Amino acid sequence: MNILVIGHGGREHALIHAFRRSPSVKNLHAIPGNDGMRSGENPAAMCHNLDWKDSKSLVEFCRKQEISYVFIGPEDPLVAGLCDKLREAGIPTVGPSQAAAHLEASKIFSKNFMLEAKIPTSAFAKVSSVQQTMQACESFAPPYVLKADGLCAGKGVFICKTKFDLESAAKDLFENKIFGDAGSKAILEQFIPGWELSYLVVTNGLQFVTLPLSQDHKRLLENDAGPNTGGMGTIAPIEIDLDLHERIKKTIVGPTLELLKKKEFLYYGVLYFGLMITDQGPQLLEYNCRFGDPETQVILPLLDQDIAKFFQQVAMGEIPNLKIKNSAAACVILASPGYPMNPQKELLIEGNPTACTDSSYFIHAGAKFQDGTWKTAGGRVLCAIGIGQTHSSALAQAYSQAKMVRWPGLQMRMDIGKKTFVNRG
Ligand code: GLY
Repeated sequence: MNILVIGHGGREHALIHAFRRSPSVKNLHAIPGNDGMRSGENPAAMCHNLDWKDSKSLVEFCRKQEISYVFIGPEDPLVAGLCDKLREAGIPTVGPSQAAAHLEASKIFSKNFMLEAKIPTSAFAKVSSVQQTMQACESFAPPYVLKADGLCAGKGVFICKTKFDLESAAKDLFENKIFGDAGSKAILEQFIPGWELSYLVVTNGLQFVTLPLSQDHKRLLENDAGPNTGGMGTIAPIEIDLDLHERIKKTIVGPTLELLKKKEFLYYGVLYFGLMITDQGPQLLEYNCRFGDPETQVILPLLDQDIAKFFQQVAMGEIPNLKIKNSAAACVILASPGYPMNPQKELLIEGNPTACTDSSYFIHAGAKFQDGTWKTAGGRVLCAIGIGQTHSSALAQAYSQAKMVRWPGLQMRMDIGKKTFVNRG
């Protein structure tokens, strides 16, 4: 079969990497793709300079290239309704309808959805000015969590220890407009202590299978300090006890699918539940209507089947069985200096960003190959991936892979996976 992946980041390269290892695949295409996908002697994918927003040309492209199905990676095309357009043209696609993608597009919409579905989540207030935020915070205990309503590439969450910090974050959103319209409205949310779990399912809106559980490290710096990022590293699988698993399914996943069905929102794809596991049980922090980045990088290597075939069935509205390997995967993000707010681009990458062994390799997120050299081209540049029999061997592989490249001011957390198991008590 021939598959088209939409997107250009680490998640999409991880998909291409997995599809390339699927026996059923003939040709892989990416729009726009990245240089990591087309590097090496056997390029993994053909990358095309086509704008996904031009859906008419995209449909023509799919027909000409005999694309079996399209996998849409990032949130923007999902929120813009690309899945609906492709399906209307008869092209099977992995991803939710535009209506369902609202679960990610608007934090206010998703909180109201959670309330309607009676899903455990923290108390919140809708705010759209500094003054409203400072008034509303009187009903909340610190630390204060302020989340931009719209899409901000994982950077629109502020965790503020004091009212002073909250005021400054609110000014950034509503007055300095650092996220433009995406930050013109926000929610102020009660902070809930616990440990975070990325709980991803593959669903057709009625049934679901749970992918290997993973844990992201969202803060820039070690010991969960510094600003929020798109994610600085992940580890999988996270084992949880059966009771907790059942509780998540019963109180969060089940009610979500029931309400999606009631609202007649079509959903053929990956639904990501960002959970906080608290002493009182699991609480839902947020929905993402897609694979996580960098969760994808550690989930896909744990699937023991033809992944391209698996997702072909998903694109047709079926939920195939999942076969999981008995191994572990780790991902350590190598970021540019200045990430997340102002990443430096065009820095020369020394070493070999295409180096790989049987148990470690790079997934490319924001690197480009130009005039015979590799350069930084985004905030998260490379993902060092390690696979092993245990979490510690996967982490050791990932960190040893990370050493194969360097650039001035490279940012990398050295504590990925360290707290994961301590946290769970
Ligand atoms: N890793 C978090 C996200 O994909 O949104």
